[in-house]
Amino acid sequence: MQIIKTRDYDHMSTEAAEQIASQVISNPKSVLGLATGSSPIGTYQALIALYQKGELDFSSIKTFNLDEYVGLPATNDQSYRYFMEENFFNKINIDEQNINFLSGMDANPEEECQRYEGMITQLGGIDLQLLGLGHNGHIAFNEPSNHFERETFLVELTQSTIDANKRFFASEEEVPKRALTMGIGTIMKARKIVVVVSGQDKAKIAQAAIQGPITPQVPASILQLHNDVVFIGDESALSLVS
Ligand code: GLP
Repeated sequence: MQIIKTRDYDHMSTEAAEQIASQVISNPKSVLGLATGSSPIGTYQALIALYQKGELDFSSIKTFNLDEYVGLPATNDQSYRYFMEENFFNKINIDEQNINFLSGMDANPEEECQRYEGMITQLGGIDLQLLGLGHNGHIAFNEPSNHFERETFLVELTQSTIDANKRFFASEEEVPKRALTMGIGTIMKARKIVVVVSGQDKAKIAQAAIQGPITPQVPASILQLHNDVVFIGDESALSLVS
């Protein structure tokens, strides 16, 4: 595992954007796995800036997002699809046909999960997966549990995740209680993984993920077993990592 300690959020974001930019330049047909949350927003902004300078071309890039809430259509401003359109896709030259998303509106979630796994395989797997880190150690929506999930699945969100995400909704009742998410196995199959983490409030969980025991109680700890993972954090988030 490579660890990059950065000065602050902006520096973290430019470092992460450089990792993704180098992937896009070396293979303009790359398959990128993308994440939502506040952590990667700066990374997307840095990538948009590189695109505007003419340094990046996303026209043949394909993407798969990690997860989506059940019950929110793409038009809902709290859906992850909407987040991606607003923060990234609408601002670069990606072909809409190359954007892959889990549908939280599918009547048969299990079939939808299988369709998504099939699409990832059909497109040759994910070259680079961008990840954030949840306060409870989750990656995508793989919550702490007693086992690691292999494939994309339907998850019941934990109360701590519902609490963490309710700031984006008008009330807690509106926060979806279920989501579709890539499994740990899906994520671990990505050829390269870039994790962005910032802020003092993530320091303990970042240390547990990077240096603690590998356990499904801290889902991100499995990343210690991946052979090409870069953890990029600001000073406060990595303050407990030796
Ligand atoms: C959500 C997403 C995760 C994300 C996490 C952390 O739960 N499903 O993919 O990593 O939030 O978000 P933030 O970066 O805002 O702390």
